[in-house]
Amino acid sequence: MEIKRAQWSSHISFIIATVGSAVGLGNIWRFPYIMGKNGGGIFLLTYLLLIAFICIIPLCCELGLGKIYKQDAINTFNTINPKFKWLGWLCIITVTLIPCFYFVVGGWILNYIWVFLTSQLPQNFSIYFSQFSSQIFMPCFLTILFLIMTAMFPFKGINNGIEKANNIMMPLFTIILIILSLFALTLPGAKEGLIFMFKPDFSHFDKTMILTALGQALFTLSIGMGTILTYGSYMKENTNIVKSAYTLIICDTFIAVLAGIMIFPIVFSFGVEPSAGATLAFISMPQMFSQLPFGAFFGLIFFALLFFASITSGISMMETTIAAFIDNFNISRKKATIITTAIIAIISIPASLSFGLLSNFKILNKTVFDLLDYSTSNIFLPLNTLFICLIAGWFTPDFIKKVFGENFIAKIFYILLKFIVPLILICVLISGIN
Ligand code: TRP
Repeated sequence: MEIKRAQWSSHISFIIATVGSAVGLGNIWRFPYIMGKNGGGIFLLTYLLLIAFICIIPLCCELGLGKIYKQDAINTFNTINPKFKWLGWLCIITVTLIPCFYFVVGGWILNYIWVFLTSQLPQNFSIYFSQFSSQIFMPCFLTILFLIMTAMFPFKGINNGIEKANNIMMPLFTIILIILSLFALTLPGAKEGLIFMFKPDFSHFDKTMILTALGQALFTLSIGMGTILTYGSYMKENTNIVKSAYTLIICDTFIAVLAGIMIFPIVFSFGVEPSAGATLAFISMPQMFSQLPFGAFFGLIFFALLFFASITSGISMMETTIAAFIDNFNISRKKATIITTAIIAIISIPASLSFGLLSNFKILNKTVFDLLDYSTSNIFLPLNTLFICLIAGWFTPDFIKKVFGENFIAKIFYILLKFIVPLILICVLISGIN
């Protein structure tokens, strides 16, 4: 018996859910930090051009394949040709490995929410963070707690769980981000921060910067893991792919830029170096909040912001795996959610212990946490995206016509999809492995 596939209840819910997937720690941390390191304005300009003309292609591929085949990632590639089924599995493996380190960060976020909520602020966040993250019980417990909180939404299904979560959390997220950005703009370092962010420094324009921008663009749009494909499979029949893809890109970029407007003024007001992700989020920022007027409040809403960003992305990661288990093993949604949760729990424990007990346990010279992060972002992501583009462009009957139509623009997309984007992805892949 064929069970009717779930559908988003409205177009706007579909957009909110895909934006919820795309907007995550990648926007709030990775983007401002990478932009800062790569010359500010010139990076922003390059990023915008790349995302608008290059990343739009794999994004349309995933949405298009989802809409045409209305199946999970594995069955989609199997239907195109049974020879391609492995690509579906590759996507599912990747998207199951990401939460194993992403949710460890989720656990830290829960801990900081508690710290700011109870106003038990430590004197020195640098010492506090290394002490906390190297413990055995608490970080593991909070990782699992974050995992269970996330899993509750796909457990309840598309309309009652995922859609509701996104429809409540994403507006809250946007409001908090706007409040924090406005607050940041009142600080003394605001002007310096904005200049740093928007003034192009052409000396940074080189190959590495372009590839970094492209890697970031792919990561932030959640491309290459079958997630957008899975969300696309719940799309209504009359949804326009190209328009939806551009809406997603605009929202995601808007939020990333707003995150920069929030962070750089604070960073410059305190004379902190805009350093790497984890330390900035869990050491410098809380330290600065603890010194500001109403700091406990702003600290709390800052971590609430990170919480909403990470949980809506986390939901989409889990849903991709769950949908694949439901469709391939013919099990119920509840059973699929429990199995997915168990797998992530088992792998995320050693990832969480990478900062203490297992800090000397290294595979390929990396801790479990770093290995998961590195292999998914730098290898699997561009690799899967490359194969998705090749299969959509070369092996899916009438794909271009169905997704882009038959006008002049479609011809440009045709050339991009078949030749230019795959070539560029090969370059990203080579540079990522080095
Ligand atoms: N886009 C997410 C972020 O910016 C991260 C991410 C990468 C992701 N791949 C994903 C999220 C797959 C969900 C599914 O943080």
